[in-house]
Amino acid sequence: MAQNWTPESWRGKSVIQMPTYEDAEKLDAVEAELSTFPPLVFAGEARKLKRKLAKVCEGKGFLLQGGDCAESFVEHSADNIRDMFRVFLQMSVVLTYAAGTPVVKVGRIAGQFAKPRSSDFETKDGVDLPSYRGDIINGIEFEEASRTPDPERQLQAFRQSAATLNLIRAFAQGGYANLEHVHRWTLGFLRDSPDNAQYEALADQISKTLNFMKACGINADTVPQLRQTEFFTSHEALLLGYEQALTRVDSTSGDWYDTSGHMLWIGDRTRQPDGAHVEFFRGIQNPIGMKCGPSMDPEELLQLCDILNPENEAGRLTLIARFGVDNVEKYLPPLIRAIEREGKKVVWSCDPMHGNTIKASTGYKTRPFDRVLGEVRSFMAVHQAEGTHPGGIHVEMTGKNVTECTGGARDVSEDDLSDRYHTHCDPRLNATQSLELAFLVAEELKKQKTADDGDFSVDAAE
Ligand code: PEP
Ligand code: CO
Repeated sequence: MAQNWTPESWRGKSVIQMPTYEDAEKLDAVEAELSTFPPLVFAGEARKLKRKLAKVCEGKGFLLQGGDCAESFVEHSADNIRDMFRVFLQMSVVLTYAAGTPVVKVGRIAGQFAKPRSSDFETKDGVDLPSYRGDIINGIEFEEASRTPDPERQLQAFRQSAATLNLIRAFAQGGYANLEHVHRWTLGFLRDSPDNAQYEALADQISKTLNFMKACGINADTVPQLRQTEFFTSHEALLLGYEQALTRVDSTSGDWYDTSGHMLWIGDRTRQPDGAHVEFFRGIQNPIGMKCGPSMDPEELLQLCDILNPENEAGRLTLIARFGVDNVEKYLPPLIRAIEREGKKVVWSCDPMHGNTIKASTGYKTRPFDRVLGEVRSFMAVHQAEGTHPGGIHVEMTGKNVTECTGGARDVSEDDLSDRYHTHCDPRLNATQSLELAFLVAEELKKQKTADDGDFSVDAAE
C-alpha cells in the first residue's frame, strides 16, 4: 500500500487542468452521490488486465488501446458503440495473427470525457468564454451557460459510462466477437477498398488458418474463446474529484482501486512528479498509463517510475510515447536507455496521434495519415534498434466513416474535412484508416518476428 496516501491526498497538491466550479456545495453533493454509486469495473478485472500487460512487458503480447478523443453526450448511441467495437475487433484479429501473440484490447471508452486544454479561455469575435473541457465538465456550444462548468454533468457521464460498458460486455461475451464473423467483415472491407494488395495476402493467410482450424474441429461452437473476447476500458483520469468518488477498497485484497475504468492514464500535461495527478495515481492499484511527450526528460521519467511503480511490478505501468513523427528518433532512445539501464519494467506503447496534429488550410484541426503511420514505423524501428519490445499502440479512432484525418487509401483531402467532421476534440482515424493502420503495424510486427526468429536460431546453434 502506498505510504501516506488516501483517495483525497491529491487535494493537498497543486492541481492543474481542472475546472473551477462556481457552486462548491453542488460539487460536494455530486461527489457524495457518486461515491454511493456501484463500481463500473471490478478490482479483479483490473488485476486480470495487469497480468495481461505483464505478459506484454515480457514481449509476449501486444496492447491495442483506442477510441474517441472525447466521448460526448450527443454521440452516445448503440450504433456508434457497435461500429467502434467492430473495427476494434478487426484490428485486433489482424494484429493477433501477425504478432503471433495475444492482443490486449483496451478501449478509450466508457469514461473518456474530460480533456486537458492548452488555454483556459477561448476567444471568438472578441468574446472570452471558458474553454470546452469535455462533456463531463461543460458543453461545447460557445455560449456562457453551456461553457460554465456544471457538476451535475458528472452524474450523466457516469450513467453513460455504465450504459456503454453494459453494451460492450454484451458484445464481448454474447457472440458478436465471433472470430469468423470478424474476419468476414475484414474481407468485405478489403473488397471495397482500393490499393490493398499487400493487405489481401495477410487476410488470405488468416482465412486459410481459420479453414485449417475448422477442418480440425476447432470452431466457435467447440472453443468458446473463438466466439467471445476480453475487452477492457480506459480513460485519462483528469477530473480527480470524480475519480476519487469512484475509488474504493477491494474487499479481496484490501487495496484501493479506481473503479471508473480498468486502466487509467496520466496526460502529458499533468504528470508533474509533485502534482495532484501523480499523487492520486500512485495510490490506486489499477494498471496505469503515462503519456510521454518531447518535454519528458530521462531522469524525470525514472523519478516518476519510482513514485508510480515503487515495487517495479510488471504490467503496472505503460509508457505511451507521443512525440510526433519527426521527433521519435530524437526523444525515444534516451528514454528507453534510461529505463533499460535501471531495469524498470514497463510496456512501451505508441500514440501516433497527439504529436501529429496540424491545422489544415481550411481551418480544421487534422492529422495526416502518413504522419500517423510514420510515427508508428519510427517507434518500431527504434525499439528494433534498442532490442526492446514495441508493446502497443494507442490511437484516437471511431467506427464511423468520418473525415477528420487526411489521407489513407480513400484519400480524405483537406477539402473533404468539412463533410463529416464530428469529433468533440481531436481528429480521429475513421474505420478504414484504423484498419489500414492495423495492417501496417501487422506487417511491421511480422518483420520483427522474422528477425527475432532468425536471432533465435543463431542462439540455438551456438
Ligand atoms: C489525449 O490522449 O487525448 C491527450 C490529451 O493526450 P496527451 O496527454 O498525450 O496530450
Ligand atoms: Co486527443
